[in-house]
Amino acid sequence: MLSGKKILLGVTGSIAAYKAAHIVRALIKSNAEVKVIMTESACDFITPLTLSTLSKKPVAIEFIKDEESGEWENHVDWGIWADLMLIAPCSANTLSKLVNGNCDNLLLATYLSAKCPVWIAPAMDLDMFAHFSTQENLAKLNEHDVYIIEPTSGELASGLEGKGRMEEPEEIHDQIVAHFNPKSNLNGKQIIITGGPTYEAIDPVRFIGNHSSGITGVLLAEACAKRGAQVILVTGPTRFKTSSANIKVIPINSANEMLAAVQANWNECQIGIFSAAVADYRPAQPADQKIKKKTDAITIELVKNPDILAWAGAHKKEDQYLVGFALETENEIENGRGKLARKNLNLLILNSLNDKGAGFGHSTNKVTFIKPNNNLINFELKNKSDVAEDILNEIETDLND
Ligand code: C5P
Repeated sequence: MLSGKKILLGVTGSIAAYKAAHIVRALIKSNAEVKVIMTESACDFITPLTLSTLSKKPVAIEFIKDEESGEWENHVDWGIWADLMLIAPCSANTLSKLVNGNCDNLLLATYLSAKCPVWIAPAMDLDMFAHFSTQENLAKLNEHDVYIIEPTSGELASGLEGKGRMEEPEEIHDQIVAHFNPKSNLNGKQIIITGGPTYEAIDPVRFIGNHSSGITGVLLAEACAKRGAQVILVTGPTRFKTSSANIKVIPINSANEMLAAVQANWNECQIGIFSAAVADYRPAQPADQKIKKKTDAITIELVKNPDILAWAGAHKKEDQYLVGFALETENEIENGRGKLARKNLNLLILNSLNDKGAGFGHSTNKVTFIKPNNNLINFELKNKSDVAEDILNEIETDLND
C-alpha cells in the first residue's frame, strides 16, 4: 500500500513518543521506507535503538552524527528525500518552534527544508492543548498547509481526562495510506469483464477454440478490484486464477454461455470490458457421440455466434461505459473505428498482430486506444498488467469528464 513511499518521522518529547514505535512498525509493514529523526527530549521517552531497529535505519538526532568521521546528517537532503514528513507526537514546544521558524535542532532544520507535505500529530495535556497559544499555533500552521491530525479525547498521562491524546498509530497509518492511494472513481462500481477463449463443441470431446490464454481478462479484473470495484469475470477456459474477494468468476465454455452470463448481469453494471476472444462461428449441430473416423473427409457446418459485445452496446444505457477489444491484421485503425461505432463503444483497445510482442501468447501487448471523437492514443509495448492500468486510467478520466 505504501510501496516506494518515503516517510520521514519526527519524534518529539511527549509521553506519546512510545506510540512512534507502532507508527514505524505499521508503515514498514505497508512497505514504506521510514527514516526517523528524534529531538533530544524524545530520547527520554523512547530509545533511538527501538526506532532504528523497527525502521531498519539509523535514527538521526543531532546535526553531527559521527564525531570521528565528521559525517553529518544533511537535513536538506532528508527534507528533499521524503514524500511525507510526519511529526508524531508533536509537543507544544516543537509546535511553537515550527510556527516561528526556530532551528535549534535537526528536526526543525529538516522541517524548514522539507519540500513534501508536512503532517503533525499533537500530543499534550488537555489544558496545554486548549491554551490559546497552542490553538493559535495550530491555526497558523494549518493556514500554511501543514496538516493537523487532531488529538482525541480520553484519559491522559496526567490522570486527567480531555482532548490531547495523540491519534492512534493505526489511524495515522490509515490516513497516510489514504493520502497516497486516493479513492479511485471505480471504487464501489460494478464491472463486468469477459475474457479468455470460447470452446465451441464439435462433439463431446472436441471443440473449436483459439490461443487466447485469458490473462488479459484476469489482469483487468484484478486491477479493477484493486481500485475498489466489484467485478464479474465471465471467462472461457483459462489456467490463470484470481485471488481477490471482490471478483466473482463465472466460468463458461461457449459463446452462447458467455452471452447468457452477460445478459443476466449487464443491467446491474456500470462498466463492461470485453476482452474475450469469442469464436465467430460454432458447429451448427454438435454430435451427441464422439465422431468416428469413417470417411476420408468430413464437413462440419458452422453457424454464426452471437456478438456479445454488440448485444451489450445495443442495450447500453446513458450511464454505462463499454470497452471492446479488436485484434486486426490489416487496415487496423479504419476497422477499429468501424467497430467502435457499430458496437456503440466508449473505448476500443486495438492490438495489431503486425506489432512484435503484441496479442496472444505474450506477456506484453502494444495497444492503441480509439475513442468516439476519433482520438487515437498510441502506447509503447508494455506488460499486460500495465496495459490493464492504462485502460482503467482512461476509463477513470472519461468518467470524470
Ligand atoms: O468483431 P470482433 O470479433 O473483432 O470484435 C472484438 C470485440 O468484440 C472483442 O471485445 C470481443 O470480446 C467482442 N466479441 C464478442 N462476441 C463475439 C465476437 C467478439 O463479445 N461474438
